[in-house]
Amino acid sequence: MNSITKKFYLDIEISKGMKVLDVGCGKGATTELIAEIVGENGKVIGIDSNRNALYRAEQNINLNKLKNINYICADLSNLDIENNKFDAIVGRRILKYLPDPKSSIKQLSKLLKPSGVMGFQEHDSTNLINDEKMPLHSKVNNWIRKLV
Ligand SMILES: C[S@@+](CC[C@H](N)C(=O)[O-])C[C@H]1O[C@@H](n2cnc3c(N)ncnc32)[C@H](O)[C@@H]1O
Repeated sequence: MNSITKKFYLDIEISKGMKVLDVGCGKGATTELIAEIVGENGKVIGIDSNRNALYRAEQNINLNKLKNINYICADLSNLDIENNKFDAIVGRRILKYLPDPKSSIKQLSKLLKPSGVMGFQEHDSTNLINDEKMPLHSKVNNWIRKLV
């Protein structure tokens, strides 16, 4: 999955020296991919509301001696980083967990530089077989949604 994600970041033209916001970064897998692309003159801020996930993410940056990542524990519905402007804002598997993704995207867009880009990588479940025919699948899907 990370190779597809990396291609996606390159396709939306994330590049060396950029300042990027990774929303719903979890344990930092995506944040580290971005850190590699933007390089030492770039910067990535990863945001997640789950402290435990961020603790794991912090451990990885220490282990891999990554100097261009900062993690912030915050809820996307209540972000207080107004003074920051980003070249790119990205997220992977986050929109489906937000109660009002449209309004979150609108809020996040205020943090973009004028020429900035925003890109989200989400599962496309529109081609799934009708959920009603798979009650167990639907039940497990709801459990995962609640858990995250
Ligand atoms: C499925 S994980 C994806 C993690 C990471 N983006 C990845 O692809 O590896 C979803 C993440 O979104 C975070 N999340 C969900 N709702 C959030 C919110 N309102 N504000 C901040 N983070 C949130 C969860 O804590 C979780 O770490």
